[in-house]
Amino acid sequence: MIKTSISKEYQQRRDTLMSRHPGAAFLLPAAPEIFRGSSVALDYRQDSSLYYLTGFDQPQAFLAMIPDHNQPKGYKSIFFCAERNPQKELWDGEMYGTDRALKVFHMDECHDILNLESKLPNLLTHVEHVYYHMGQDEEGDRLMQRTLEKVRMSKGRSGKGLISVHDPKVSIGELRLKKSEHEIELMKKAAKISSDAHIEAIKQAKAGLGEGQMQALIEYHFKFGGCKRTAYNSIVAAGSNATYLHYHSNDDVLKDGELLLIDAGGEYEFYHSDITRTFPIGKTFSSAQKEIYSIVLKAQKQTIDRVKPGVRFHDLHVYASKVLIEGLCDLGLLTGTVDVIFDQKKHLDFYPHGTGHFLGLDTHDTGLYYIDEASRKLEPGMVFTVEPGLYIQKNHPTAPEKYHGIGIRIEDDVLVTETGCEVLTTVPKEIEEIESLRHGK
Ligand code: GLY
Ligand code: MN
Ligand code: MN
Repeated sequence: MIKTSISKEYQQRRDTLMSRHPGAAFLLPAAPEIFRGSSVALDYRQDSSLYYLTGFDQPQAFLAMIPDHNQPKGYKSIFFCAERNPQKELWDGEMYGTDRALKVFHMDECHDILNLESKLPNLLTHVEHVYYHMGQDEEGDRLMQRTLEKVRMSKGRSGKGLISVHDPKVSIGELRLKKSEHEIELMKKAAKISSDAHIEAIKQAKAGLGEGQMQALIEYHFKFGGCKRTAYNSIVAAGSNATYLHYHSNDDVLKDGELLLIDAGGEYEFYHSDITRTFPIGKTFSSAQKEIYSIVLKAQKQTIDRVKPGVRFHDLHVYASKVLIEGLCDLGLLTGTVDVIFDQKKHLDFYPHGTGHFLGLDTHDTGLYYIDEASRKLEPGMVFTVEPGLYIQKNHPTAPEKYHGIGIRIEDDVLVTETGCEVLTTVPKEIEEIESLRHGK
């Protein structure tokens, strides 16, 4: 669907970015279209940073933010996109075209993408620092190389021009890291739709269904709730499949007595949710399953309780890991003291991943986790996941057999507020709550 107007927030993001880099140019191509076979286009999803800075969601586009002293803000937003083409629109639907894109997306200039290569060198003639993400798209990189070569040649004549090419990811990533009010609203909506879908999945699972059927069920609810697509490949892992961290073949069958781990989230207006719940395929957890589940739940809840501005991101991981280690020691799965086990990384056998990641327009969102070698401190507006888990391989050499093949992860999305955090996702996770959902209550 074509947008007829968008908020000025996208333009304000460009203003903020460019005010932090006076005199530099930022060049961002749209995500390439990907085809299966020769002509069947796969679902098109705009590059997150281009979307963040423009709101434009069609392929074949390029944003050039070019320094210009004659502009009040010191730069110009020059946008390239495809001209309208009735033949193409007949097949693929309405296009923006340059006239409409200029107004809808609040650009200073808009040109036909076919003229990108001829116009770009002139736009960059006197620019000393260019931000362009090399290595993301081969065709774009080749165009960039040709462009920069032309710019270099003209530098010889004018004496002014290109000195260095930088990666734009850090600067744009820092902007994307702290969410605006509007972004938070969209993330809450993604979280609500995804939470409701998980609740349906917990209610409807039963032995004999395929993992793929459960995937269909949860993804149906994402889409019916208003999500355009999933945020990432849904993980629907029954029994010991849950011990594979990013299992997504989803082609096994649910069996009574086993657990089902579902790690899935919807994408709403480009913003992601990322939720994991693990629950019994029968009506109740076995006592061995309960023992492991309770440790993960404790680690997850206590870690969330510690989230507030000023806390270092990595410290949350250390904290969660130590709660898990303590629980594993209590069950005899690890022996020794918590700190020594952590320092010697002996727990990695059972907990081999981190405790969370930033979340936003991407599931593994942008933003630096370390600044000057120190784990960064949380700030209001950041959104991230808290997702501890425990995984006991089915042939584990030392763990008691009753724990073999148990894989449990519990994952929620949290927003850092001025005083603590708000948990955006709302799927029940207490043992009694899950068991009562499984009893149809
Ligand atoms: N679902 C991917 C992740 O949790 O990181
Ligand atoms: Mn995650
Ligand atoms: Mn996840």
